Amino acid sequence: MAGNITFTMIKPAAYANNHTGKILDIILNNGFRIQAMKVVRLTPQLAGKFYEVHKERPFYNSLVQSMSSGTILAAILEKDNAVEDYRTLIGATNPENAAEGTIRKQFGESVEKNAVHGSDSDANAALEASFFFTEFDRV
Ligand code: RTP
Ligand code: MG
Repeated sequence: MAGNITFTMIKPAAYANNHTGKILDIILNNGFRIQAMKVVRLTPQLAGKFYEVHKERPFYNSLVQSMSSGTILAAILEKDNAVEDYRTLIGATNPENAAEGTIRKQFGESVEKNAVHGSDSDANAALEASFFFTEFDRV
């Protein structure tokens, strides 16, 4: 059975361009409940650790630099089938290929500045949620 949480970040460019309110509105209007939320700025070390699975990829250094370049919003979202439904809501990694109406289509500037992160599996959702939040932070 699919799990009921996913983890998201509103990335630095989307946060800096004041898209946070509109993105949260879309998330809430699509049936997700916020279990935990905070605004933080990642150090390059923390961004590097978060994206460690991608460390052999050519875009890793640029991604780490970008994700540590400004404020982000991190949140745990709850819904039945959360991981898959949230990835449908955000759209393809490259905003150019994302479906109309998706968050990345509306707010993404490029494949790197693609507005939001969404977990890709239940196991990674749990790992990513606990990277940012303790049990005490979650309601
Ligand atoms: P995310 O993890 O952020 O939700 O994105 P995703 O699953 O759709 O894509 P993933 O393959 O996990 O890549 C993580 C992030 O790295 C950046 N990226 N850049 N320059 C490139 O070709 C490239 N490919 C990926 C994107 O910001 C992507 O969200
Ligand atoms: Mg991913």
